[in-house]
Amino acid sequence: MESGKKVVLITGASSGIGLACAGMFRDAGWTVYAGFRSHRITAPGMLPVRLDVCKGQDIRRAVALVGRREGRLDCLVNNAGFGLMGALEDLEAKDICLQFETNVIGLMLLTRAVLPLLREARGRIVNVGSMAGLIEFPLGCAYCETKFAVEGLSDSLAMELSDFGVKVSIVEPGPIRTNFTQAAAKFADKLERKKGSPYLPYYEIRKRLMSDNAWLYLPPRDVARAVLHAAASERPRRKYLVAGPMGLYLLAKAVLPQAVFE
Ligand SMILES: NC(=O)c1ccc[n+]([C@@H]2O[C@H](COP(=O)([O-])OP(=O)(O)OC[C@H]3O[C@@H](n4cnc5c(N)ncnc54)[C@H](OP(=O)(O)O)[C@@H]3O)[C@@H](O)[C@H]2O)c1
Repeated sequence: MESGKKVVLITGASSGIGLACAGMFRDAGWTVYAGFRSHRITAPGMLPVRLDVCKGQDIRRAVALVGRREGRLDCLVNNAGFGLMGALEDLEAKDICLQFETNVIGLMLLTRAVLPLLREARGRIVNVGSMAGLIEFPLGCAYCETKFAVEGLSDSLAMELSDFGVKVSIVEPGPIRTNFTQAAAKFADKLERKKGSPYLPYYEIRKRLMSDNAWLYLPPRDVARAVLHAAASERPRRKYLVAGPMGLYLLAKAVLPQAVFE
């Protein structure tokens, strides 16, 4: 470990929330391994590491690199992910599989691979979940289910690792201003253009909601702040909701009868 600095590995660090986390950890004095898939991160003070979470070879190489250079890992931030939006009937099997491989399976396999280093350091795991892992919505069948899975996984892991001093937190963002929404919209628009989808009204409502509610989007640094707290605080919380006014949606779900809420 270089001069007593703590070491973090962040997936999907080339943009959005991952990039904001990488900057915030660096500024807090951590050694930052910034995982990237397609765009190599070039910001000063960050160590780029190729890490497509769907590729076993990338996982093995990245973990070996951190192990060789640092001999430990103080925090893994599982942030990489994307949002596949569309009616279940419209979605292609290969896209559903990729959604789960990226948001769930890749996250699990990387976590499994770094656990020896994390146990050594009595480190932390911070999973970037989503409000979509707490609340369902139409066209979210694939994405929501991956984030519900990350919720469950985080709770199981927290129990499984508590005797080893490894703490697990999940950060649950609401809408955040990143590339995520445009990428998700591209999927939905493609499906909407598919001839004869019986779900057209849902696609139209989704578009209108997104353009009418741009003011609800929070900056990625708000999420990064929660991630850093989970990694560095003496008393990290298990769950961090970062949703701003959208948190009211959860309150509505909790207090309203299901039929009214829907
Ligand atoms: N933005 C929101 O409203 C929001 C809300 C709740 C939760 N989240 C969650 O926040 C996380 C980060 O998303 P973001 O908002 O920051 O979006 P973003 O700007 O699109 O960033 C996503 C990052 O994940 C990377 N990625 C995607 N697939 C990957 C793979 N197979 N292996 C490694 N990296 C991969 C992307 O890399 P490339 O550049 O190579 O594509 C990119 O760096 C995601 O897990 C998302 O589900 C976002």
